[in-house]
Amino acid sequence: MTQPHLTIVQHPLVQHKLTIMRDKNTSTAGFRRLLREISLLLAYEVTRELDLTTTTIETPVCQMEAPTLEGKKLALISILRAGNGLMDGILELIPAARVGFIGLYRDPETLQPVKYYSKVPADLDLRMVIAVDPMLATGNSSVAAIDLLKEAGAKNLRFLCLLAAPEGVARMRDAHPDVPIFTAALDERLDDHGYIVPGLGDAGDRMFGTK
Ligand code: URA
Repeated sequence: MTQPHLTIVQHPLVQHKLTIMRDKNTSTAGFRRLLREISLLLAYEVTRELDLTTTTIETPVCQMEAPTLEGKKLALISILRAGNGLMDGILELIPAARVGFIGLYRDPETLQPVKYYSKVPADLDLRMVIAVDPMLATGNSSVAAIDLLKEAGAKNLRFLCLLAAPEGVARMRDAHPDVPIFTAALDERLDDHGYIVPGLGDAGDRMFGTK
């Protein structure tokens, strides 16, 4: 089945939790808890297309051919640092997932993302690979992270975020039309500082209590 390029997860629980996260009066602890909860619901959607096979088991009543996930464990890739907040919740749902990290900073002169850290699981070509970053804003770092993952062999990729701006979605669609994006909401635009509007502020600062 072909995936749409952009999936907005319209579940009422997701939308409700997101509203509380957007509220500037929500505490760091509350924000973190909601992010973990919402990431479980987003993970449910993003993994919908995982392949199944069957295995023979014995229930207390009889033998059966029961569905089970096929192939290698999926790989979750956190785009540092805010990606870690989304990843923690997903790992509760998929504890056997392999985990990787990509760190990028913005070169102050060229304004382009530059890699400072990358450690990803082996055999990316044989796994579903889900890159996670709560905010898809300009799309520059997301595109760079997906570039790196493709160079490392990834073929079956998804990008999971909490909020997306139209600018970031367009940038991803141009650079990586084969990578479906999953988000809880598509906001209006970016402001002059690259913040998503209405957004929720700096996701890393909100989840780690930094400023
Ligand atoms: N990154 C954030 O944390 N927030 C935004 O609004 C945009 C990028």
